[in-house]
Amino acid sequence: MTEINRRLVLRARRDGLPHVGDFAVEHAPMPEPGPGQFVVRNLYASLDPALRQRLTLTDSYVPRIELGEVLTATTVGVVAASRDPAYPVGSHVVGHHGIADYWLTAAGPVTRTIDPSAASSLSHFLSVLGPTGLTAYFGITRVARPRAGETLLVTGAAGAVGSVAGQIARLSGCRVIGIAGGADKAARLTGEYGFDAGIDYRDKTLAGLTAAIRDAAPEGIDLLFENVGGIQLDAAIDCMNERGRIAVCGLISQYNATEPPPPLTNLFKLVARSIRMEGFIVRNYASEYAAAAATLARWVGEGKIHFRESIHDGLEAGPEAFLSLFTGWNQGKVMLRLEPSA
Ligand SMILES: NC(=O)c1ccc[n+]([C@@H]2O[C@H](COP(=O)([O-])OP(=O)(O)OC[C@H]3O[C@@H](n4cnc5c(N)ncnc54)[C@H](OP(=O)(O)O)[C@@H]3O)[C@@H](O)[C@H]2O)c1
Repeated sequence: MTEINRRLVLRARRDGLPHVGDFAVEHAPMPEPGPGQFVVRNLYASLDPALRQRLTLTDSYVPRIELGEVLTATTVGVVAASRDPAYPVGSHVVGHHGIADYWLTAAGPVTRTIDPSAASSLSHFLSVLGPTGLTAYFGITRVARPRAGETLLVTGAAGAVGSVAGQIARLSGCRVIGIAGGADKAARLTGEYGFDAGIDYRDKTLAGLTAAIRDAAPEGIDLLFENVGGIQLDAAIDCMNERGRIAVCGLISQYNATEPPPPLTNLFKLVARSIRMEGFIVRNYASEYAAAAATLARWVGEGKIHFRESIHDGLEAGPEAFLSLFTGWNQGKVMLRLEPSA
C-alpha cells in the first residue's frame, strides 16, 4: 500500500448545476482496518445522477453529503487489508464506498464479493452487471411487469439504465419505444439497442412530444419506464392506455432545477384510465443482486443486451465526468477508473 490516500470531497454546494470547483481531491492517511473491517483498493467508481440529490437534499433516501466529506458511490475494488474473514485480502468486492484510492469499510447490505471472471472487464460490475443494469432489471421485471405484445416507452432511453431497461422489455416480447436527446442518440436506440422506434425530444414542446409518441405508438402505451419527468412524463401519460403501468425510476430533469417543475397537465388521466404509477429504489432488491447479475451476464454473453460505458481516468476527472450526466454529453454508464491497469 502507498502511504497517501487520495479522496474526492465536496467543497461547496449550490442550487442548480454544480460547478467543477465544488469538488476537490484531498490527501488523507491510509486507513487501517479494525476488528470486522476491511480496506478496499478501489479500481472503478460509479458516478450516478442520484449523487446530485445527495449534495443538497435532506430528504433523499440516502444521507446528504456534508461539506468536506468524501463523495460516496458504488465502487468495485480489491480487498487490500482485512480483519473480516468473509472479505479476505485479494478478493474482489462491490459496495457503497468512498470515491477514493482506499476506503475503510465493513460488510453491509449492498456489499458483495464478485467473481471477476464473470465479466470481460471489472467496469461491467458498475454498468450492466451493477447498479444501472440491476435498476433496469428490477424496474422492468418487478415494477413494470411487462406482458408479451405490450408497448413500453422508456425516457432517458439511451442512458445506462434506460438502454438496458428497453432491451429487457424487448426480451419479454414488448414493442419498445425510447426517447433520448439528439438525433444520434435517438438513432442509437433502434440501431444499437434494437428498440422499435426512437424519438429525439430536443426542441419539442409538450404537444410536439405527444404527437411524436402517438406517431411511434398509434395503439397507445401500456408501460412507461420513467427516468426524466417534466414534459416527457406529461406527454407519455397522455398517450397511455387503460390499466397502464408507470415505473418511476428517476426524474433527472428536476435534479438541478431552481424553479418548481411545471404541473403535470395530464395527471387526472391516471384516474380516468386506472393507471398504476409506482416508484422504486434498486437497493430494495439488494438481497437478489447476485442472481439478477448472473441473468444479466448470461444475456450479455448471448448477445441479447448491448451497453456503453463512459470511462474517465483518475479522481481529478470526477467533477467533469459527473456533470456530463446532466448535459447528455455522456454516452453510457459514467464511471472513474482509479487504477490505470484495471
Ligand atoms: N430508482 C433507482 O434505484 C435508480 C438507480 C439508478 C438510476 N436511477 C435513475 O435512472 C435515471 C438514469 O440514470 P443513469 O445512471 O442511467 O444515467 P444516464 O441515463 O446514463 O445519464 C443521464 C442522462 O439523462 C439525460 N438528462 C440529463 N439531464 C436531463 C434533463 N434536464 N432533461 C432530460 N434529460 C436529461 C441525458 O440523456 P439525453 O442525452 O438523452 O438527454 C443524460 O445522458 C436517472 O433518473 C437516475 O436518477 C434510479
